[in-house]
Amino acid sequence: MPGMRKTILITGASSGLGAEMARQFADLGHDLALCARRTANLEELRAQIIAQHPERRVELRALDVTDDDAVFEVFRAFAADFGTIDRVVINAGLGKGAPLGTGRYDANRQTAMTNFVAALAQAEAAMEIFRAQNAGHLVMISSMSAMRGMPKSLTTYAATKAGVAHLAEGLRTELHGKPIKVSVLYPGYIASEMNEQVAQSTPLMASTEKGVKAMVDAIEKEKARACVPALPWAPMSVVMRHAPLPVFKRLI
Ligand SMILES: NC(=O)c1ccc[n+]([C@@H]2O[C@H](COP(=O)([O-])OP(=O)(O)OC[C@H]3O[C@@H](n4cnc5c(N)ncnc54)[C@H](OP(=O)(O)O)[C@@H]3O)[C@@H](O)[C@H]2O)c1
Repeated sequence: MPGMRKTILITGASSGLGAEMARQFADLGHDLALCARRTANLEELRAQIIAQHPERRVELRALDVTDDDAVFEVFRAFAADFGTIDRVVINAGLGKGAPLGTGRYDANRQTAMTNFVAALAQAEAAMEIFRAQNAGHLVMISSMSAMRGMPKSLTTYAATKAGVAHLAEGLRTELHGKPIKVSVLYPGYIASEMNEQVAQSTPLMASTEKGVKAMVDAIEKEKARACVPALPWAPMSVVMRHAPLPVFKRLI
């Protein structure tokens, strides 16, 4: 049984890291509030979880996180379902992008709106609940790409992930010493729909199960910040931040 954080809300739970976090948190005894646009995937995930753990409570809602009003409605409805939401994992994200100035503002804008503006809406909605409860744990899923400005198709994505990490770190400073906790996770390559294409090209890809286990461990420990999996990504974060540009350019 988990201690204080019984009920966990996860956005973007219909595939990849979000779905696997739901499975692993259910294994640990948590109840779940899951949302995404693909509700058929959520239904299938709930059926899998309930088949393994019939005593778990799993509530589902359709949510497009870029619909501001819907974010607040869905978060409030989950809070009403459970009475309290103990932890919110802001995970929904998009990996689209193109080099700036190459005619794909649409793709970069979509990534910025989903990964940053919608994450802000989710953080607002979560903090509204946590402030009312005077308790809660906010978890922001950033990325290793947030460590340094990234070139080409990653430029916008990396900027959004640095942005969400700063949102969470700002909140952590504000809430230091208070009962509301904030964690930022910086995943490296973990197998999911988002990075199916890079899967072939890097030996650094962790399996979904192993990568998410590192995420769930860090979240359960309520670490302030964690590169996951820690190896190779924690030492790599130092190199990424401090390597001279010509060296960094060769690394990525
Ligand atoms: N996998 C990695 O190596 C890696 C590394 C660093 C960071 N991350 C971050 O981890 C998070 C999860 O990504 P993933 O790798 O698991 O990718 P994924 O398999 O593509 O999953 C992305 C999830 O986000 C949801 N989503 C996307 N746009 C949405 C929208 N407008 N409204 C609601 N939900 C939306 C998707 O649900 P629907 O399409 O059903 O709405 C899906 O459940 C992302 O924030 C990503 O940036 C991943």
